Amino acid sequence: MPFNNLSQKDIDALINIAGAHYVHTTSEELSRCASDETEDLHYLPEVVVQPRTAEEVSAIMKHCNDQHISVTPRGAGTGLSGGALPVMGGVVLDMKRFNEVLKVDKRNFQVTTEPGVITQVLQELLQKEGLFYPPDPASKGSCFIGGNVSENSGGPRAVKYGVVKDYVLNLEMVLPSGEIIWTGANVLKNATGYNLTQLMVGSEGTLGVITKIVLRLIPAVRHDLLLLVPFRSAIEACEAVNAIFLAGFTPSALEFMEREAIEWSMKYTQSAGVSLPTDIQAHLLIEVDGNNMDELYKEAAAIGEIVGKYDTDEVLFADSHEQKQMLWALRRKVGEAVKSNSIYKEEDTVVPRAELPELLTVIKQLGAEYGFRSVCYGHAGDGNLHVNIVKGDMNDDDWNNKLSEGIRKLFTEVVRMGGTISGEHGIGLVQKNYMDIAFGTAQLRLMKDIKKVFDPNGILNPGKMF
Ligand code: LAC
Ligand code: ZN
Repeated sequence: MPFNNLSQKDIDALINIAGAHYVHTTSEELSRCASDETEDLHYLPEVVVQPRTAEEVSAIMKHCNDQHISVTPRGAGTGLSGGALPVMGGVVLDMKRFNEVLKVDKRNFQVTTEPGVITQVLQELLQKEGLFYPPDPASKGSCFIGGNVSENSGGPRAVKYGVVKDYVLNLEMVLPSGEIIWTGANVLKNATGYNLTQLMVGSEGTLGVITKIVLRLIPAVRHDLLLLVPFRSAIEACEAVNAIFLAGFTPSALEFMEREAIEWSMKYTQSAGVSLPTDIQAHLLIEVDGNNMDELYKEAAAIGEIVGKYDTDEVLFADSHEQKQMLWALRRKVGEAVKSNSIYKEEDTVVPRAELPELLTVIKQLGAEYGFRSVCYGHAGDGNLHVNIVKGDMNDDDWNNKLSEGIRKLFTEVVRMGGTISGEHGIGLVQKNYMDIAFGTAQLRLMKDIKKVFDPNGILNPGKMF
């Protein structure tokens, strides 16, 4: 069903709810909210509204539901699947004024926060209290915690500490009808009814608007060590990943970077970085953490020995704050570096960890078959590889048509290996045409029915997921 465009009456109603200062129709504001970090996509909304309370969100939802106007919630706009793109125009619900950490409950190891708090700001505030919220997406310095919940984000530390879903206890959300609900309770165990909390996590802003988040925390961890291991064979680097786990170690990060990933990141960050001999194909960035430094040195040495059985060059061992910062900056900037280099598409493949070498092999084979060049990097310890396909000198026809056949083949192979088509970036706009690879008609029917139950008029973040 088509949506209605906003009339002046609708704009006036929004101004009445949120205040004139927080209802924007200038081209500057509209174009700010027309894109996120996904490729080079742009979709202009008709209006940007910046509410401050759940009650305001509720009134906005009620109005838009009655008037059949589409509403697209937006966090910090760092998403990589187009979740925040207002593809049907309408209202962008910009959540940036929900920027308060409401309560640190140290006794219970919990925090209640609003969704527009920057993830790293939240983490640093908790760290000062001796508390730890581990999920750390690459964009942690700019992304919002609400976006992380909506996408069920991960990041490097997920390999030891889990992803966002493992920390969300309870959510306050506004339904498309305008009703304000809590999804669960602030408890570590909950066997009461369907799990609405976890249904909301990763629902990509299609079921409701999150206005408060209760997270479980763990005690802060005191120390970490970081190793950068250069491999002459990228496939061997992937094989080494599983060897580390099989030997009984669980690093707090285990990241893979193909040669070009680290090379482009060094150029992009203009950092002297690391030496990169011509025969190096890939690196593993391995972090261990804990409270006993002696144990950590032992663990790092043991991991060094395991990877030393492969064809590796000299391991860079980082124990100073500066060195660790430099290495992590290189890793975190890979995505941006690739984006600055060429038009690209980012796939977020994930397979059972032991299948990682096969995944990389298949990616390169399909690249040769379909004529695409890929830069791969990501959370190897989770079997989660970001496949950045760069346009380079591929012609527009191949880029727009042939490539999607190649991606379809890649995802089919991923599912054959027991994996799925997104590990942490979500489906949003750019992966929705591939959902039939991950799910059959029965699962898709269930999901579409769930969407209808929450949002019968389909006004919330339309055009996403299916
Ligand atoms: C990363 C983002 C792209 O891992 O997920 O860098
Ligand atoms: Zn990632």
